[in-house]
Amino acid sequence: MVPALYDELRQRLDALCAGEFDPIALMATVACEVHHALPQADWTGFYRVVAPGLLKIGPYQGGHGCLTIPFDRGVCGAAARTGQAQRVDDVHQFPGHIACAASTQSELVLPVWNRRGDLLGVFDIDSNQPAAFSEADELALTTLLACCFANCAGPA
Ligand code: SME
Repeated sequence: MVPALYDELRQRLDALCAGEFDPIALMATVACEVHHALPQADWTGFYRVVAPGLLKIGPYQGGHGCLTIPFDRGVCGAAARTGQAQRVDDVHQFPGHIACAASTQSELVLPVWNRRGDLLGVFDIDSNQPAAFSEADELALTTLLACCFANCAGPA
């Protein structure tokens, strides 16, 4: 059962993002709305694919984040490298976790694709609570991202 908050979030983003295909505008809107909808979110944002094997920070909410992440580093790099969601209940157990804030305890990072299968970047949510993200959160956010970014152009 997907919590009602995701139904409301999806309806709100469908309305806000209707007819918009600019990835930065969409990322800014998704980061804002998800951050304010999820009480466990302490940092919510995107890292964009800007070159082969390299992520660069995009729109986010929360404290400063590191500016660039190669695909071979961190939870974000693992999501970009593998194309798989990374749901980390305890970041201290994740080899190579990049701590942008010492308070982060758990993290969810999802790859972001367009409908052609281009990897646009990753969506990163950090929490100061341990095990803050469920499988239901992961699946609901994966679906939401697929809808929001389906028609975005791939990286230059
Ligand atoms: N924790 C991430 C880095 C991004 S900061 O959390 C915003 C990682 O390990 O890739």
